[in-house]
Amino acid sequence: MTTSSSAGQSRRDFLFVATGAVAAVGAAAAAWPLVAQLNPDASTVAAGAPIEVDLSPIAEGQDIKVFWRGKPIFISHRTKKQIEEARNVNVASLPDPQPDSARVKEGHDQWLVVIGICTHLGCVPIAHEGAYDGFFCPCHGSVYDTSGRIRQGPAPSNLPVPPYAFISDSKIKIG
Ligand code: FES
Repeated sequence: MTTSSSAGQSRRDFLFVATGAVAAVGAAAAAWPLVAQLNPDASTVAAGAPIEVDLSPIAEGQDIKVFWRGKPIFISHRTKKQIEEARNVNVASLPDPQPDSARVKEGHDQWLVVIGICTHLGCVPIAHEGAYDGFFCPCHGSVYDTSGRIRQGPAPSNLPVPPYAFISDSKIKIG
């Protein structure tokens, strides 16, 4: 089943695709779209089934949000500038020191996949906000960088990276 937004809007504004076995999703709206996963069915996903996500509709510089095990997962298609910013950091200066290379898959540096739950008290941060062009948590002001690492505010640690793998250059399996 494929649906698109109303007439006059580009199909890229909101693309929703579901196949029999997996849900392939993506969106290119400027704001984060809420992307539903229909298959496997919701109860199976809630129980922990892996989900597959098609990355091909996500343009460089854009983000989507999907849900896995009831948690929001942020998928960012990082720009070269964002990748450079993530790499050009003195890792030792970070509150939760981790190189960018430890947070992305080798050969797929443009993709950042993190659990979108603030490590302070669990709010959901906002993309492309804050001083580091990463994520900003509106609850108490934690700021994460383009690698999802905590840079300012009360959060004690980086946004976690969920278990995931590339099953093709444009598709990942989370879980
Ligand atoms: S929950 Fe995010 S800063 Fe407190």
